[in-house]
Amino acid sequence: MLERLVHSRRGSLIVATLADAWDTIRRRRDPLVPPRRLTVFVGAGDFQQMGEDFKRFFVELGGLKPEDDVLDVGSGIGRMAVPLLGYLRGCYEGFDVYPAGIRWCQKQITPRYPGFRFQLADIKNELYNPSGRHSASDYRFPYDDASFDFAFLTSVFTHLLPADARNYLNEVCRVLRKGGTCFATFFLLGEEQPAGDGAQLDFRIEGDGYRSTNATTPEVAVAYMRTDLDRMLAGTGLTLRSSYRGSWSGHESGTGFQDILVAVKSG
Ligand SMILES: C[S@@+](CC[C@H](N)C(=O)[O-])C[C@H]1O[C@@H](n2cnc3c(N)ncnc32)[C@H](O)[C@@H]1O
Repeated sequence: MLERLVHSRRGSLIVATLADAWDTIRRRRDPLVPPRRLTVFVGAGDFQQMGEDFKRFFVELGGLKPEDDVLDVGSGIGRMAVPLLGYLRGCYEGFDVYPAGIRWCQKQITPRYPGFRFQLADIKNELYNPSGRHSASDYRFPYDDASFDFAFLTSVFTHLLPADARNYLNEVCRVLRKGGTCFATFFLLGEEQPAGDGAQLDFRIEGDGYRSTNATTPEVAVAYMRTDLDRMLAGTGLTLRSSYRGSWSGHESGTGFQDILVAVKSG
């Protein structure tokens, strides 16, 4: 299965690399849009449109304000950072385990917008950084306590197993100020949140405290039972404020593909 995934990614990578070369020849290169070969690993869809959609969700559903200090966990190739460039006046910090994504953001974004900083975390992830030295389950985010007003993780918990997810929720809570907001996307399953008949992902592989679409490499797509996630949240200082169902489960959704949770650090 992993082999098939690697092969299909390899094929997409070849096509994307050729398209990048064609863009360069035609001088069609926006310096704040990453080359297509990087998007093969970090997110399908229209880079700019997805970023704009999420900026709107951050503001309308999460209450993001221009003066907030913001943490982007799993900042990828800057898809969420770019739409915030003209919006945020507070600081922006992003970290990720994917070296090529961090290199691109450091080279293309930070020199133009010094308030936007990115750093690499050498954490092992079977998909994005297979030779990483550290484990996400006990990784301490490289920021002081109470440094941020708003932290977001878009399509990151969907690649983390339970011990990693639990640690990340605790770390998010640690680095948030009192009253700060955590905005995160998930695939959620359960009685209140059943996957409909038209579900676009089949989480048939049952793991210990999670489900996945992929037996060999569960991090390809990880789903949680809503009750398990509620239990994880209860062990942190984060309190759920609102949730929005995504269209992945076959339900109508005005808020994108994945489920969204907004939680607040209680006082
Ligand atoms: C589907 S991509 C989403 C990227 C970005 N958040 C976005 O929405 O464009 C998943 C990202 O999570 C990152 N990631 C995976 N495991 C991680 C971890 N333990 N800590 C931080 N980032 C991680 C990957 O490197 C990848 O950039």
